[in-house]
Formats: sequence, C-alpha cells, structure tokens
Amino acid sequence: MKASQRKIAIVTDDPGWHGRQLTTSLKEHGFESQYVSLTDCTIEINGEGNEITFPGFDTLPLGIFVRGVPGGSLEQVIFRLDILHGLHMSGVTVYNTPRAIERTVDKPLTSLLLSRAGLPTPTTWICETPEHARSILEKETSKGGQLILKPLFGSQGIGIHLVDYKTGLIHDEKFAGIYYLQRFIERQNNEYTDIRVLVIDGIAKAAMLRRGQEWVTNRAQGAICEPLVMDKVIADLAESACKVLDIDYAGVDLMQDKNGQFYIIEVNSIPAWYGLQGVVDFDIASCLIDSFVKHIAEINQLKACSELN
Ligand SMILES: Nc1ncnc2c1ncn2[C@@H]1O[C@H](COP(=O)(O)OP(=O)(O)O)[C@@H](O)[C@H]1O
Ligand SMILES: [Mg+2]
Repeated sequence: MKASQRKIAIVTDDPGWHGRQLTTSLKEHGFESQYVSLTDCTIEINGEGNEITFPGFDTLPLGIFVRGVPGGSLEQVIFRLDILHGLHMSGVTVYNTPRAIERTVDKPLTSLLLSRAGLPTPTTWICETPEHARSILEKETSKGGQLILKPLFGSQGIGIHLVDYKTGLIHDEKFAGIYYLQRFIERQNNEYTDIRVLVIDGIAKAAMLRRGQEWVTNRAQGAICEPLVMDKVIADLAESACKVLDIDYAGVDLMQDKNGQFYIIEVNSIPAWYGLQGVVDFDIASCLIDSFVKHIAEINQLKACSELN
C-alpha cells in the first residue's frame, strides 16, 4: 500500500485530545491525516463518478476514521451519513461503518437487536404519543419504582431523566417526540457505578469502572474512572453486544443490578477514551489505529484480487 500517496480523513468538527491522539498514532503508522468536517463535504452527481468531494483531498481518502457526526435536522444527519455510505460503498474503509453507526446511535434499534439476540438489556418501552408514555409510566410505577426517560440519540448522559408516579412524564425537547422509557436499575449498595468496556475487532481490550456522585455515571457528568480487572462475564457480554451490532470497535456500557445481574445499557460507536486511557497501561489510540490500518489493508487486498480476476 502506498500510504504516502493517499491521506486518511479524521472526520470531526472538534478534534481536541482525541483528534491529536489519532493524528500522532497515524503518523507513527506511516500515514498522513487531516481533519474533515462532514458539513464541508459535497456530492455532485453528473454521471461521471467521483461524486463525493472531501475538502483538502484531491483523491478519495485512503480511510476515514469517524470521530464525530454532528447533529442537526433529520435531513442534515441523513446527508452526512449519505456521504459516509457513499464512500463505504466505493470501497473506502470507514471506521466505524455507517451502518454500525446508525444501529448504535439509535437507542431503540440497539435495544431491540440486543434483546432479540437474547442478551440482557433493561426492559424498555418506546412510543410516540404522550398518552401511551403516560399509561406505561403509571402502570409501571403505581406501586413504587422508577423509570428513565432517554433521548433517542443521546450521549454523555445529557437529557436523561428519572421519572416516577409522582413526577409524571417530563417534557424535554431532546426527546424529539419519541418516548424511550426504561426500567431503572438499582445498583448494589446504591453505589453509582457502571462499567465501560472497549471492544476492538471482537475482543474486549480494556474496562473501567465509572463512579458518579449521581445515578448518571458518564465521565462527562463528573464520574471518576477507576481501573477494573475484566472477568469473563463482562468480556463475553461486551463482545457479544458488538457481534450482534456488527461493529468493528465500540465502547460498551454495562450495569450490574443489586442481585448481581449484568445489563448491556448502550453500545457507543464513536466512544471517547480519555478516561479509559488514564487507567490502562497501553496506548488506546495506537490499538485503534492498528485495527483501522488492518481493515484498510484487507479492503485493498480484496480490491487487488478483484482487479487481477
Ligand atoms: N436503566 C438504567 N438504570 C439506571 N441507570 C441507568 C440506566 N440507563 C442508563 N443509566 C445511567 O445513565 C448513564 C447514561 O445512559 P446511557 O444509556 O449510556 O446514555 P448516554 O448515551 O447518554 O451515555 C449510564 O451510564 C448509567 O449511569
Ligand atoms: Mg453511555
């Protein structure tokens, strides 16, 4: 592979620490890279091919590391994903693949797929009308107990609410007209912890415990990260979740209830790893780039074989 001839695009609107980690690691692997915002990409359909233009790239990128798909209107998000789909279908390595990103940013689809695969995920109800949501809430909490309301495309613990019989439904524009209600998991000793596992190419590589002051234990909400020795149960669950969602790498969120039962809460296709890097003794960016480069090499090998045939 003539790496010097084609650059890698790191798709992001906010490179920050993660962008720098990827740039450095790509350089160490012999690849030049550039940050690109999907909002600057264009499609020109004129029957001559090469429809997608990436600013700063004369030819298509050799690979695309997706670090962020900015939110926006439904149309904007679909268009941004169209660009990734278009490139993926042209044989460019897109990491994670657009289909995997779609499956995982969409909490209902993730929950449905995990549950259908027989994996433990909390009981969840998704509906459109406030009447339906209210009747579920009343039925589930009339004898005590709480439910969680989550935005469909939520991340970093933003916009999550705890609701019960007394509070009734909470209205938040982040719900965007869909109610995703989930049974609240009570943790052992009422400790506010959960587990984040990093899975790369089907193998659970590292895990950490996140400990919060409140029940939402995202690092972005102030939880601290602690090292965690991963046992087989945790590794198996995280690996199975990634297999079901057919994703090249992911940050899998797990919770354990007061009886010791684990649940898969979420699979993140664009996970941050700043917190995890602080508690492991290997270079996470380098591990991710090893895998990314391996995917690029595999695709190029396939292309070379089909050109020979
Ligand atoms: N069913 C649940 N019961 C109790 N706490 C939960 C539940 N679901 C999520 N949480 C808490 O909220 C956090 C964020 O939830 P998550 O579904 O991972 O959304 P986000 O995409 O915002 O990270 C979790 O890390 C956990 O601490
Ligand atoms: Mg999460």
